[in-house]
Amino acid sequence: MDHRKDEWLAAIAAADDSRLRELDGELFGKSGDLTALVKGVAQLPKEERRDAGRAANQLKAEIQAAYDARRQELADAALAAELAAPDFDPTEPGPKHSRGTLHPITVVRDELVDLFTSMGFTWQDGPEVESDFFNFEALNIPADHPARDSQDTFWLDDGNLLRTHTSPVQIRTMQRMKPPLKVIVPGRCFRQETVDATHEHTFYQMEGLVVDKGVSTANLLHTMKTCLREILRRDLVVRCRPGFFPFVEPGFELDVKTERGWMEILPCGMVHPRVLQAGGIDPEEYTGFAFGMGLTRVVMLRYGIDDIRTLSGGDLRFLRQFEEVGR
Ligand code: PHE
Repeated sequence: MDHRKDEWLAAIAAADDSRLRELDGELFGKSGDLTALVKGVAQLPKEERRDAGRAANQLKAEIQAAYDARRQELADAALAAELAAPDFDPTEPGPKHSRGTLHPITVVRDELVDLFTSMGFTWQDGPEVESDFFNFEALNIPADHPARDSQDTFWLDDGNLLRTHTSPVQIRTMQRMKPPLKVIVPGRCFRQETVDATHEHTFYQMEGLVVDKGVSTANLLHTMKTCLREILRRDLVVRCRPGFFPFVEPGFELDVKTERGWMEILPCGMVHPRVLQAGGIDPEEYTGFAFGMGLTRVVMLRYGIDDIRTLSGGDLRFLRQFEEVGR
């Protein structure tokens, strides 16, 4: 079959794109000439097979190399022709690729985490699907407590719920770690709210918990002041008033003044002795403070967003405004 070698090489050398594609099948395809040649070796008498096999493989490799070279040659020529075309402008910018960016909530969360870790806090996580025990019971909110009405809960069929705040992670942390404790818990929370410009069924909080010997209200207020100053980065009028939450005593509300009035962003207080007990910590020996920052609200204040729905609305025109901060 060797006499056909020149014929094959000549066909390859003369082929244009479409002919080359045909030749691929004719030569190397299932019933191609070279495939047949290699297969044919098996029919030869045993003593001839070795040499014939080697020769057949060598020939096939040679033709394949010529084929590949021709294909490259045609591709190079096509590119050269394209570059030489009179309307080709190499200075024209290529297609623009859109780059993803971080969501403003992620940006602010990361900043807060940096701030608190620099003050010695560690980041803890907890589940979004919680039990009644962690979300209410252990936080001193028993079944008949009126505070349960204020937290319109998404209950699941199995008796669990979507956590209404990040506070259940206070209990989980105390049960897992020994004091001194300094933790933050950024996380998503859910409430069955009527959605409007300032209420969403899904929002973010950042819980904080500090437990040690001799922790006082002064420590709490100092930490909260530092935090607000760093995060909001402008002079703000802050108001502190008593706040009621069953899991703290005393409890406070830190509000920030905005054009639309006071915005509650930082409820906090001294951890209630019963909550420490539920976490396995002796309230005679330790005290602590906790806060539940409204992370979503901090984001709104920071960027002057007046409709909470835009944050999870998925409208790219809204999100693109944060391209610079999200990089
Ligand atoms: N968990 C409370 C809420 O979501 C906020 C809070 C946390 C208050 C910690 C005091 C201490 O309403």
